[in-house]
Amino acid sequence: MHYDEAKFAEYFSDAPADLDIAQLDMARIPRHISCIMDGNGRWATARGLARTEGHKAGIVSLREVITAAVRLGVDVLSAYAFSTENWNRPQHEVNVLMHLFAKTFIDELPLLKRENVRVMFLGDISALPERTRKVFEYGLEACRDHTGMTLALAVNYGGRAEIARAARSIARLVQKGDLDVDAIDESCVANQLYTAGLPDPELVVRTSGEMRVSNYLLWQIAYSEFYITDTYWPDFDRWELVRAILAYQGRDRRFGGLSKTN
Ligand code: IPE
Ligand code: IPE
Ligand code: MG
Repeated sequence: MHYDEAKFAEYFSDAPADLDIAQLDMARIPRHISCIMDGNGRWATARGLARTEGHKAGIVSLREVITAAVRLGVDVLSAYAFSTENWNRPQHEVNVLMHLFAKTFIDELPLLKRENVRVMFLGDISALPERTRKVFEYGLEACRDHTGMTLALAVNYGGRAEIARAARSIARLVQKGDLDVDAIDESCVANQLYTAGLPDPELVVRTSGEMRVSNYLLWQIAYSEFYITDTYWPDFDRWELVRAILAYQGRDRRFGGLSKTN
């Protein structure tokens, strides 16, 4: 995605003393950055607040990361907001999250419009409470003409559920006679995933120090670089994002081959 040098410089002026923005290689910004937004609850608990206050604070971070990603010229920003396993949380927390998702989408429409952000959902949106689903449909319609960075929000998303769903779609195509079994290859599977048409994430960021994938983008992360920070999601900001990209740019991506220096 095209990046506006002047807007970039303005948004990333005033960097912390230990961070040198000039180190960023703008020609090697990941096309797709994905965030596992974790640690909202612990952020709140550490402050003596209700866990749900952490979710509210997490929205502020997401807003900043969206703007930062646009300024950096990222093509796709994806974010894990609610997993298929998060239904196991107390009903009150689930209710607050569903309410917050809907409210945030409406509140942030001006930002999404100003920054020309395309929005899509990864996951089974049809199973969400009706009000949340309706607001999502309304918001998607409002963003329909946007042509800039893609924001892919994973809500009621599970990597295993996604792969099982793709298997069902493929089986249906075969059953109808529209697909030959021998034509089922990797791109055929990829085309049946929620992320069809998106590049795989080059960089996956997980906040709050957890060293696990938690059923996220299982197929798509085959060769993603991981950046795990102890920072809780509500404390994650544009500078943390730059640190993640700098770490990514320092990695030797081999894809099973040999390093370029070998
Ligand atoms: C991530 O923060 C947000 C969601 C999963 C919805 P958590 O709510 O998982 O926060 P912790 O991990 O309990 O601190
Ligand atoms: C992963 O975080 C899901 C989201 C960030 C939405 P969790 O907090 O649900 O993951 P676990 O339970 O610690 O693995
Ligand atoms: Mg968590």
